[in-house]
Amino acid sequence: MTTTPSLPTPVAPSPDPLPVLKGFASLRRLIGAYPSGHPMIAQKLGELDDLVRLHLRIGPLLQIDVIHGDVLLDGVSFGRDQQANAQAIRELSDLGIDSIHIREGVDTDELRAVAEFLWRFKPSADGGPMDGQLARRGVRHISLGRLVPLDTRWRAQQWPDAPTGPLDPAYEESLTRMEQAFDTVASGRRLDSVTVRDLVELLIYKVARSNAALGQILAVKQYENLTYCHSVNVAMLSLLIGKQIGLDDPTIAALVEAALLHDIGKTRIPLDVVKKPGALEKRERKMMEAHTTLGAEILVQTEGLRPLTPIVALEHHRGVAGTGYPDLGDEVPHAMSQIVSVADIYEAITGARSYQAPTLPERACLVLARLAGDKLNSALVKAFVNAITFFPLGSTVRTSRDEIAVVVGTNPTDPLHPLLSLVDDTNGPGGRIDASTRDVSGAYERHIVETLMPPDALDVTRFLESAALA
Ligand SMILES: [Fe+2]
Repeated sequence: MTTTPSLPTPVAPSPDPLPVLKGFASLRRLIGAYPSGHPMIAQKLGELDDLVRLHLRIGPLLQIDVIHGDVLLDGVSFGRDQQANAQAIRELSDLGIDSIHIREGVDTDELRAVAEFLWRFKPSADGGPMDGQLARRGVRHISLGRLVPLDTRWRAQQWPDAPTGPLDPAYEESLTRMEQAFDTVASGRRLDSVTVRDLVELLIYKVARSNAALGQILAVKQYENLTYCHSVNVAMLSLLIGKQIGLDDPTIAALVEAALLHDIGKTRIPLDVVKKPGALEKRERKMMEAHTTLGAEILVQTEGLRPLTPIVALEHHRGVAGTGYPDLGDEVPHAMSQIVSVADIYEAITGARSYQAPTLPERACLVLARLAGDKLNSALVKAFVNAITFFPLGSTVRTSRDEIAVVVGTNPTDPLHPLLSLVDDTNGPGGRIDASTRDVSGAYERHIVETLMPPDALDVTRFLESAALA
C-alpha cells in the first residue's frame, strides 16, 4: 500500500476575507448610530472600498460564504478566527446573510447602500428576494444570500433529499450513521476513525449480504443524492467491484473506508455551489474541484484512518490517462482510486440531480463503457458491469411480451436474461419468471426490451424480499 500522498502546492495566497465581513458589520452599525454625513461613516466606507478592490484585483468576483461559522473565500475555508471576527460573522448570520458576492464594477455608493439595507433589514420580513430589494437601491454588483437552508428557487425539479419508502434496515442504519459523520465534519469537528471502522463493518457484513439493499443501491435512484447517501452507495459499489476482481478481505476493508470518505471535502464547499444546476462558472468549478485536495487534507489529519483513504479522496477525479483533477502530472491513480472512479460515475448518473433526471442502469453501463480507456480503467468497467449484471437487481423492466417486472435475481451465465418478478395490477409482486427460459425451438421466450422508471406506488424492496423467501 502506498504512503501518504504529497498534496499539490496551493495557488498564490488570497487576502483574508474576514476584514470585508467585519467592514460590512461595522459600517452597518455606524450607519444605524450616526447621521449619514458623519466622518466615521466616510472613513469606514473608504476602508471597505480599499479591501474590496484588493480582492477584485485577483479576479472579477469576490465570493464570501459563511457555513456553520466558517468563512470561505471562493469555497476555500479561512477557518475560524478571534472573537471579534466571530461576532461580525454572527451579526450577519443572525440577519440571515450567509453569503456576500461582489462583482467587478462595484462602487462606494453600492457598498453604502448594502450597509444601509443591512441596518434596516429584518430577517422575518417578507420583502421578496434580496436581489430585487438591492436593485431598487441601485445595487447591481453585490448579492446577498442565505446558504442554509438551501436556496431552492432555481431547482428545475424537486426531488426528495434522501431515499423515500421502506429501506433495508442495515442500509438505512448506514445512511443515518454516515449523515452523522458528515455533519460532524461539516461543523468543524474531527472525524472519529472508530465510527468509520464500525460503518465499514456494517457495510461489509450486513449491507453487502442483503439483496434488498443492493437492489436499492443499484437501481435508479429517484432522490437528490446528498453527499452522505452518495458516499455509502459508492462504498457499496466499490465493494462489489473489489469482490469481483478477487481482492482479499483487508484490501476490501481499506477500499470501502476510502470510498466512504472520498467526497468528504464537499463538506467544505458552499452548498449552493455543490447543488448548482447546469454549468458552473470557472471560479465555481475551481471551488468544486478543490473538494479533492480539501478532502485529502481532512483525512490526512484524521488519526486512525488507513493511508489509502486520503489518496483516493485526492485522486478519484483523475483519469487513468492522467486527465482530470487535481493536476498531478503523469502519475497514474492508485488502483483503488480507479475502482472508486467507476463506482462514483455510475452512482452519480443513476441518481437524480436538481437539473437532471436519473439515468437508467443499463444506459449508465453504456456511459461507463464509453469512458473506458482514457478516463476509466477498461478492465474495472468490465468487472463492474459483470458484478452488477446488465440489469441490476431491483431494476424495473419491460419484456418483449409487454410485461412489467422487477429484476430479482441474476443468471451468471446469461446476464441479459435475469430472474424476474412480474408486477401485478396492484403494483405488488406477481409470478416469478426465469427470462432465460427457451421455447421448444430453442429461442428465448422473452427478452428485456427496456428498463423503466419504477411507478411511484411500486415498492422494490417487497419484490426483492419475496424473491429471497421463495
Ligand atoms: Fe468527488
